[in-house]
Amino acid sequence: MLYSLLKKLLFLRDPEIAHESALRLLSGLQDSPAGSALLRALAGRVSTAPVQTMGLEFAHPLGIAAGFDKDARCVLALQELGFAFLEVGTVTPRPQPGNPRPRLWRFPEAEALVNALGFPGEGMEAVRVRLDSLRESGVLRIPVGVNIGRNKDTSGDQAASDYIEVLDHLHDVTDFFVVNVSSPNTAGLRDLQAVDKLRPLLSALMEHNHARGAKPLLVKIAPDLADDDVIAVGRLARELGLAGVVAGNTTIRRDLVPRAAVLDRGGLSGAPQFPRAVELVRLLRSELAEHQTLIAAGGISSSDRLARVLSLGADLAGVYTAFIYLGPRCVKQLLKT
Ligand SMILES: Cc1cc2nc3c(=O)[nH]c(=O)nc-3n(C[C@H](O)[C@H](O)[C@H](O)COP(=O)(O)O)c2cc1C
Repeated sequence: MLYSLLKKLLFLRDPEIAHESALRLLSGLQDSPAGSALLRALAGRVSTAPVQTMGLEFAHPLGIAAGFDKDARCVLALQELGFAFLEVGTVTPRPQPGNPRPRLWRFPEAEALVNALGFPGEGMEAVRVRLDSLRESGVLRIPVGVNIGRNKDTSGDQAASDYIEVLDHLHDVTDFFVVNVSSPNTAGLRDLQAVDKLRPLLSALMEHNHARGAKPLLVKIAPDLADDDVIAVGRLARELGLAGVVAGNTTIRRDLVPRAAVLDRGGLSGAPQFPRAVELVRLLRSELAEHQTLIAAGGISSSDRLARVLSLGADLAGVYTAFIYLGPRCVKQLLKT
C-alpha cells in the first residue's frame, strides 16, 4: 500500500534519479533504530528456509543481485528488508562515472528494465571503508559478497590486473567474490567468457585467492552464451575448483520486449528473462559438482518462479528487477509457498 504510493511517485521520475532517491532513503533509514524498525515492518515477517552452501549460512535462498547497491551504501537496509544475502558492486579499482545518460529505462508492461550504466561507482577503496566498518561494528547478519569488474579505461589485455587488484583489496571484508565477465555495458568485457580467455583469468584469481586464504569465488555469465559455451564454462568452473556460478546477467536480446527494440545499447533484465534463466540452471546443474553453488538470476519475479529454479537445482537466487516492481514486500512475496 505504502510502496504502491511511493512507487507511483518514484516512477514519475527519471529511473536513475528515482534509484538515487531510493538509495538515499534506504541509507537514511538504516542509520536509526526507528528507520530500521520501519524497514522491517514494511518487509513483513519473512519465513526462513536455511541454506548452507559455500561454507556459509543463509537464512533462506533469496538475495539481492549485483548492481542495486554498487557501492555498499545501504547494506543494512537490504538486510532489514529480509534479503538473505547481498552482492555489492560491480566494484572496479578506480572510481568512474559510467556511460553517458540516459542509461536506464523502465518497461513496466513487461516488468523489465534496460540498463547501460557501465559500472558507475566510487571504486574499491570506498567500498572497503564501508564494508570494513560494517564488519567492525558486528551488525551484519547476512553473507555479503563483492562482485568484481574492470575499469572502462583499462585495456582488454590488462583486464586481469584490475580484477586481481579488487580481489586483493577487498579480500578480508567480503564473504565471497563474483567475477563479472558478463555485463554488456563495458566494451570487450564479455569476450572474457570465452574459455581460452576465461581460464587464465580465473586461474590467476584463484591463485591470488588461495594465497590470501581462499574465499568462495564464483563466475557470473551472460544468458546470451550459446548452450555449448555455458556447458564449457560450467566444466571450467568444476576443473578449476571454483565455488560456483551465477547465471546470469542481463541479456542483449531486444525481441523480448517490443518497446525496448529501439534501444541500441544496454542489457535487459526482469520477467522476460525467466525462460532462459531456467535453461541456464538446467545446463549448469548437470555440469557442476554437487558441492558447487549455483546462484540463479534473471526474471525471478514470483514465488512459483523462485520455487522452479530451486527445484531444478539452484542453491540460491538473486533478484534485482523484481525488487524495483514489488518493493519492500519482495522477499515475503517470493518466499511464500
Ligand atoms: C540497473 C541494473 C544494474 C545492474 N548492474 C550490475 C552490475 O553492476 N554487475 C552485475 O554483475 N550485474 C548487474 N546487473 C544484473 C543483475 O545483477 C542481474 O543479474 C540481472 O538483472 C538479472 O536479474 P533480474 O531479472 O532479477 O534483474 C544489473 C541489473 C540492473 C537492472
